[in-house]
Amino acid sequence: MITKLTIDRIMEATDIVEVIGEFVQLKKRGANYVGLSPFSNERTPSFTVSPAKGIFKDFSSGKGGSAVTFLMELEKFSYPEALKWLAKKYSIEVEETVESTENKEEENHRESLMIVSGYAAKFFHESLLETQEGQNIGLSYFKERGFSNETIRKFELGYSPDQWEAFTSKALKEGYQQQFLEETGLSVKRDNGTLYDRYRGRVMFPIHSFTGRVIAFGGRTLKNDKNVPKYVNSPESEIYHKSNILYGLYFAKKAIRDEDNCYLVEGYADVLSVHQAGIENVVASSGTSLTVEQIRLIGRFTKNVTILYDGDAAGIKASLRGLDMILEEGLNVKVVLFPDGHDPDSYVRLVGTNAFKTHIDQNRKDFILYKTDILLKEAGNDPIRRADVIREIVESIAKIPDSIKASVFIRECSHQLEIDERALLSELNKMRLSKARKEAQQNTRTIEPSDYLPPDELPQELPVKKEDSSQEREIVRLLLLYGNKMIDWDGIANTYIGPFMIAELTDVEFEHEASKKFVNQYAKEVENGILPDEQFFIHFADKDIVDLTVTLLATKYTLSDNWYEMHKILVPDEQVNMKATILGAIFHLKKQKVGKILDGLRTELQKAEGEADTEILLTQYMHMKKVEKSISDYLGSVILK
Ligand code: CTP
Ligand code: MN
Repeated sequence: MITKLTIDRIMEATDIVEVIGEFVQLKKRGANYVGLSPFSNERTPSFTVSPAKGIFKDFSSGKGGSAVTFLMELEKFSYPEALKWLAKKYSIEVEETVESTENKEEENHRESLMIVSGYAAKFFHESLLETQEGQNIGLSYFKERGFSNETIRKFELGYSPDQWEAFTSKALKEGYQQQFLEETGLSVKRDNGTLYDRYRGRVMFPIHSFTGRVIAFGGRTLKNDKNVPKYVNSPESEIYHKSNILYGLYFAKKAIRDEDNCYLVEGYADVLSVHQAGIENVVASSGTSLTVEQIRLIGRFTKNVTILYDGDAAGIKASLRGLDMILEEGLNVKVVLFPDGHDPDSYVRLVGTNAFKTHIDQNRKDFILYKTDILLKEAGNDPIRRADVIREIVESIAKIPDSIKASVFIRECSHQLEIDERALLSELNKMRLSKARKEAQQNTRTIEPSDYLPPDELPQELPVKKEDSSQEREIVRLLLLYGNKMIDWDGIANTYIGPFMIAELTDVEFEHEASKKFVNQYAKEVENGILPDEQFFIHFADKDIVDLTVTLLATKYTLSDNWYEMHKILVPDEQVNMKATILGAIFHLKKQKVGKILDGLRTELQKAEGEADTEILLTQYMHMKKVEKSISDYLGSVILK
């Protein structure tokens, strides 16, 4: 865990305007800054940053929080990753405490694997640039392929010496453990237990996680021997799950977001060449066919994918079905083909950057129209095969979750297929209906809580209704705004509002998840003698708490509906009669809870059989009625006075 001291230092150094300014163009407006939301496509800026409070609020997506939350939302960092990013930016040394929990062990394990991988990347990179063999063999190969020094440096390309143990023995000597060398696949174990290098004599492409750490490698042979595999890749490990990784994403993500589009290519070389040509929003699935996880990864940054294909017809046909998966995830798919025999890498080297870009712009085709084209050409005039084509195209369109978009495609394809739009639409509806039925069936089977919860953990109550949570949120709001302030009880005594409220609420069970977490946290701090303020919660590690805090701070108050009006309190007045505000909120919540208990008792009474049961229930009911009345009286006297 990162130490409290480090977190404090990071928070102190962090200038939220500066941090967010790296991703969003901000303009000063009054005390705040505004810009276009990076989380949605908007034309008028609704994204606001308050440097005074150290928070942002995005009114178009509803997201909000601190600089840390921002990084977590935008860059998909975990909490510690976001902290480390800030620490790096502000040159703060990160202190971490070692915990002996199992979790920590796993974390340490992953960390060790990453450290070894990082070390290996450095070793290979240095062999490439600084050794005779590396320069003669590896570097000259990369140069011949047209990779610039900058590309080689940026992507940390490397060379693994053509010896059995060059890397392994060096790594062992430096103290890296055999276990981690093996698990990362950098070294392979012989029968006698000793290790040898996996990538001998290969040029190395390190694979980065999306926070930029090396987690795996691809090593390409320089031999033309058919019996030698062209690429040797890292095996799956705790830090490398092939199906979740896109090669180049770390270097591409900013451009993907800026361009709102992601180019998808096949290989390492394609990524490097296209990136070097100035088109930086490019990634590769590297050797696997595209997975759903990879598509979702792209989907976090943009909804637009453009596939850059080599012109080989067999390959195209094989991948058509795979691409439907991208449609299913709600992404827009376009396709660009290259002349026969060329892949993006060879084509950009052939024609140069400008002509390459022009080619992309002029040959970008929508995937569905493109697929229709290919299948139609193949079917020729054979009516049966044409019918198959129609079905297959409608099948693809049916996968698009957005029905408006789907109907646009239906119209366009009806021209292409020379078939009546209504016929296509009815086919589409049929498919949708059967898909919906199937899903409904699956849902009723899987969503039943009794399928996975033991009986005593089944939810006892219906989920909290919307209006219910506003009472709880009002408590949170008051704690946030006034918790560390004093209240004067008619000149008799002074108390801090926060601890007073917490004490008053010990018997109240909060139901709204975030409010519950907030109040529990508040109570915990109070117990430790701390009066947490806004900043404490804005920078809190739990996202639910941060969200709630920022929402409450950004919107003036939550109980807009009935009760202020009922009690004739104008919100700006709340500070004037602090006592009424605080007690009002507490008793209002209590009254609501009592109301719920009464509701429950009433239902039970209706079902009750036998006099004894009824009697007990009635007694309880009368008692709660009294409690309710006293609360009402109290509310009346306090508030209306
Ligand atoms: N690949 C692999 N194993 C192979 C061949 C290919 O893992 N034997 C993967 C690699 O990730 C490679 C991608 O598939 O990057 C595409 O293959 P290819 O086009 O052959 O590789 P390039 O990276 O384009 O390499 P080059 O242009 O140097 O041949
Ligand atoms: Mn290639």
